[in-house]
Amino acid sequence: MSIPFISAEEAASYIKNGDNVGFSGFTASGTPKVVTVALAQRARELHEKGEPFKINLFTGASTNDHVDGELARANAIAVRTPYQSQSDARKLCNKGGMNYFDTHLSHVSQDLRYGFYGDLDVAVIEATEMSPNGEVILGAGLGMTPTIAMMAKKVIIELSSFYHTSFRGFHDNYVPLDPPCRREIPIYTPSDRIGSTVVKIDPKKIIGVVPSNASESIKPFTAPDEVSQKIGDNLSHFLAQQLREGKMPKEFLPIQSGVGNVANAVLYGLGENPDVPQFVMYTEVIQDAVMHLMEEGKCKFASTCALTFSDDAMDHFMDNIDFFRDKILMRPGEISNHPEVVRRLGLIAMNTALEADIYGNVNSTHVLGTKMMNGIGGSADFSRNAYLSIFSCPSIQKGGKISAIVPMVSHVDHSEHSVKILATEQGVADLRGKDPLQRAQTIIENCVHPMYKELMWDYLKLASKCEGHIHHDLRAAFALHEAFMETGDMLQADFGKYC
Ligand code: COA
Repeated sequence: MSIPFISAEEAASYIKNGDNVGFSGFTASGTPKVVTVALAQRARELHEKGEPFKINLFTGASTNDHVDGELARANAIAVRTPYQSQSDARKLCNKGGMNYFDTHLSHVSQDLRYGFYGDLDVAVIEATEMSPNGEVILGAGLGMTPTIAMMAKKVIIELSSFYHTSFRGFHDNYVPLDPPCRREIPIYTPSDRIGSTVVKIDPKKIIGVVPSNASESIKPFTAPDEVSQKIGDNLSHFLAQQLREGKMPKEFLPIQSGVGNVANAVLYGLGENPDVPQFVMYTEVIQDAVMHLMEEGKCKFASTCALTFSDDAMDHFMDNIDFFRDKILMRPGEISNHPEVVRRLGLIAMNTALEADIYGNVNSTHVLGTKMMNGIGGSADFSRNAYLSIFSCPSIQKGGKISAIVPMVSHVDHSEHSVKILATEQGVADLRGKDPLQRAQTIIENCVHPMYKELMWDYLKLASKCEGHIHHDLRAAFALHEAFMETGDMLQADFGKYC
């Protein structure tokens, strides 16, 4: 059976108003890039004619401007999950223009298979190679592709010619059986292969193949600033100390690292510390830093869901692909983030917080408790199950008008039970084995910026007058947030009025 080449516009015409549509990829990597642009154009044309057109958009993680940006600007998204980080999609989400629900990344594939969100009407999948019998080699990000390829009633393939060498052999596609038949995920070291290098799609479901040569369009990371570098240094010294104290195996443990500039800088910090041994990673994304650490011999192997390289770094990767062949394995997000594997391998999980409170609760998603930033992503897949769960952030934001450490977080993503270590550029707070008051003292002493320390001790003194296991004065717990909303500066908070 021959599968026809079709235009992006024709492909988009097969997607109907109200359809559940799944997209390949994870972060910008491996996401479709031309069908979505045509789909956004179709939505605009239909809207101009007064006809409704919105889809329910399911992805592995965040996408890129080609997906979230285009569709958000065309007002073509009704429902969105699990994670977005594109500014127009974020705006749409925060003004209620789409129904966004934030979900753990490891859950979405199985939730789709369990039927929680209804049938999957269409899957749009970026492939880098394809055979007439429907065997597909994916690209730089897997996300939920094996599941959506299996579930979708119709499949559109975007065949990318952007990559000048083959990705064949980098993927480990695997879909677990669903309960009550599920068995263990048989990964015992990060490099274990359990699945297939190809995704097999029933050719009868494939409507057509759309050629594409678009890049992932990932901007280069900003060079780590002084604050991020200090966080990285603090954490690498802390981990080296843990090794010396015998609090982790002498072979060291696999590392998971989150997304963003701080996460990238933390990895550079590990790379530069001679007391941190060579390491392997079991993580959901690898960014530019990891590629450099591999070339320096510091990172020996990485299991990941995506290669989230900036375009320049991707070129470098392609030019040197043979060097990386035995050092990188890409898995679906359901497996890269699987709690069972995370617990078994004993990961050092390093994720980033927007704000944390003095008792160790972390907010990773909602600015001032209300405005969605990106979503929880895979952070809780890892942090809840890691050997050592670390959260880091700069101690202040916006030139000091915001303290990232507050008396009570305005939204909770990671509770005190999942946060073992908190780090800022000021220092590291080890929360293990400490009761709430001890945690508060350790966090204020080690992590709070000097300009906010007195204020935070004032709060603890005030809160300590209230009896209980956790000391809070609920009248004052959000005084910093209130001061920011009223004056634009958390430093204006005054606990005197509550005494
Ligand atoms: N209040 C208000 N704004 C805040 C803030 C706070 N407490 N903390 C950070 N911000 C702002 C920063 O000022 C910055 O704003 P700008 O873009 O206008 O400069 C922005 O948020 C990003 O902050 P930055 O310190 O550069 O963070 P980052 O790039 O390292 O990203 C998260 C941090 C938390 C947003 C990001 O890591 C994330 O989305 N995490 C959740 C998902 C996750 O952990 N995924 C990985 C799992 S494997």
